[in-house]
Amino acid sequence: MIMNTLFSLGATKLHLQRWPLNQPNQSLQAWDAADELILEQAIAYCRARPANASNPLQVLILNDAFGALSCGVSTVLPIESALFVVQDSVLSQHASRHNRTQNAISNHALYELTSLDPLPTAPHLVLYKLPSNHSYLKYQLAALKQSITPHTRLIIAAKAKDITRNVLSLFEQYIGPTQASLTIKKCRYIETEYDTTRQPPATNFPLRWRLDNSNIMLVNHANVFAREQLDIGARFFLDHLPTVATNSTVIDLGCGNGVLSLQLLTQQPQCNLIACDESYMAVASAQATIMENYPHFLAQCQFIADDCLTRQADNSADWVICNPPFHQQSAVTTHIASQMFRDAKRVLKTGGRLRIVANRHLPYRLQLEKLFGHCQQLAANPKFVILESIKRS
Ligand SMILES: C[S@@+](CC[C@H](N)C(=O)[O-])C[C@H]1O[C@@H](n2cnc3c(N)ncnc32)[C@H](O)[C@@H]1O
Repeated sequence: MIMNTLFSLGATKLHLQRWPLNQPNQSLQAWDAADELILEQAIAYCRARPANASNPLQVLILNDAFGALSCGVSTVLPIESALFVVQDSVLSQHASRHNRTQNAISNHALYELTSLDPLPTAPHLVLYKLPSNHSYLKYQLAALKQSITPHTRLIIAAKAKDITRNVLSLFEQYIGPTQASLTIKKCRYIETEYDTTRQPPATNFPLRWRLDNSNIMLVNHANVFAREQLDIGARFFLDHLPTVATNSTVIDLGCGNGVLSLQLLTQQPQCNLIACDESYMAVASAQATIMENYPHFLAQCQFIADDCLTRQADNSADWVICNPPFHQQSAVTTHIASQMFRDAKRVLKTGGRLRIVANRHLPYRLQLEKLFGHCQQLAANPKFVILESIKRS
């Protein structure tokens, strides 16, 4: 099967790809029916806007997974418009840039924002693809309520199964009276009316919680993995982290809230730690976690938003530790983990080691054996294994 990359918007055709480009599952596309619904209304709005409107059009896009919304709306934006695109994911940013470039879409007046940046004031049009995580939804709704005005046109859509009573009630609480449309192509629009009198509930992000009965406090921004409790794989890994030598360079790949980094620093305060994640909120959480617990170690730590280890030099690290992801957006996949292992091999010095925790049923042992020439299982419990490979010359 060949992946469908041809996205039709009426007479306009766009060539859209997911990121990373070498997706093993060819049945996945870079857009879905909710993107199509959002773009249908957004294009109608842009076309209906008077050419002599007094202010240049300001458009805000939230959660554009692979750039379909940004590319699609750009085909009808007047030249002087400003386009603000908010993404938490480095992979989404890479996809959007790649797709804009390959469709020859100008980046003039494109503002790429991360999930932690303030939203622009009083946008005319907001294209909102609902996030699946409700903490992040609350965080974004609170920010939106501050940013929009009663005149802002909100276009919101998601898969019908994701528009629950709870989701609609969050829109009611944060924005104003809300209802869902009928189902179209298994998706629905959310129609919400800005209520100036409604004060949104106070949000408490980032969430802070204590690790078991320790003094350790974990700081979690709204979109970070395991933001409300310790992941069970991470719990097992905490008991099997390596003892690293003084002055080692250790990379926590896919650092999340920094729980593994923190434990490593506890065991070996004299190491150089690099915490990487593709989520801006994860990187900020890891940094805040170290700051909260060990502010004096901050100078020996780097916090980097990256796609795997793309920004790390070859042969530069003594250790890579990793609790790999098993999905991208809503698709279950092992290809990100495979890329992490390949990057780890490139970035490790000769003699350097990659140690991972993995769900027992995943095929990582075989992959590591193939890549490194060997792989040792160091520990196991009924659900997880701890695997280690050494980079030989
Ligand atoms: C299973 S979580 C582990 C988080 C944390 N280390 C822990 O043990 O709780 C996997 C992490 O990998 C990150 N991730 C996913 N794809 C990535 C990529 N391409 N590059 C870097 N990090 C990625 C996710 O954002 C997530 O924080």
